[in-house]
Amino acid sequence: MDVIIKDDYQAMGVYAAKCLAEVIKRKPNAVLGLATGTTPLATYNELIRMHREEGLDFSSVTTFNLDEYLGIGKNMDKSYLQDQSYARFMYESLFKHVNIDLNRTHVPDGLSQDPSAFCEEYEAKIKAAGGIDIQLLGIGGDGHWAFNEPGTSLSSRTHVEVLTQQTLDDNYELFYRKAGFSRDQMPHFALTMGVGTILDARALLMMASGSKKASVVAKAIEGPVTSQITSTAIQLYKGRAIVVLDEAAASELKNKEHYLHVEKVKSQFV
Ligand code: PGA
Repeated sequence: MDVIIKDDYQAMGVYAAKCLAEVIKRKPNAVLGLATGTTPLATYNELIRMHREEGLDFSSVTTFNLDEYLGIGKNMDKSYLQDQSYARFMYESLFKHVNIDLNRTHVPDGLSQDPSAFCEEYEAKIKAAGGIDIQLLGIGGDGHWAFNEPGTSLSSRTHVEVLTQQTLDDNYELFYRKAGFSRDQMPHFALTMGVGTILDARALLMMASGSKKASVVAKAIEGPVTSQITSTAIQLYKGRAIVVLDEAAASELKNKEHYLHVEKVKSQFV
């Protein structure tokens, strides 16, 4: 695992965007695993800038998003809650600004009539696309990856998840309150790639920013592996995992000095 510590949120986003852009340049028909939340926004803004100013080409790129609330989704005129869907978030934050073919973008369908069957289809679609080349990840306040809440098997596949109080609280503050919804109008279930699905990707790029995430980041990277903190599965990952943090999110790492040393030494040789 490479732990990269950047000065601030912006620098973290630029670094992560460079990692994704390298994959796209090397393989124009790359399959990207994407994430929602406040963490990846700077990354998406930088990708948009690269597309506009440097011609980064998304025309053959395929994407799969990690998760979606159950009960809301793409069909944005169905109810007022559609505005808060992750499908909409991705469209507004990235897809509409770059030359991606929307038919190649996939966000779990929160409006599916048969969520279990949909989860199986989603797995099959990822496989049919050749698997995910690089998976972008945030980390939840409760340590979740995607919506894999505490207690989820570390070998789980795409499934329906019951959200924890902490996730509901965090996401209410970030998204729903602003949009004028009451707490009980929030969906309490989600469709999510499983931890096992995530671990199948050919590279992982996990990001975190801010002091609120410092304690859970330290647990994820340096604590014991446990299904109570599903992001600890990064320690089991067999491929290349890059963790990009800002200073604040890195502030509780025991081995911070070592990670900084490794980064410096590696940059001289790699
Ligand atoms: P955030 O969410 O980026 O809004 O902090 C991360 C997550 O819940 O995975």
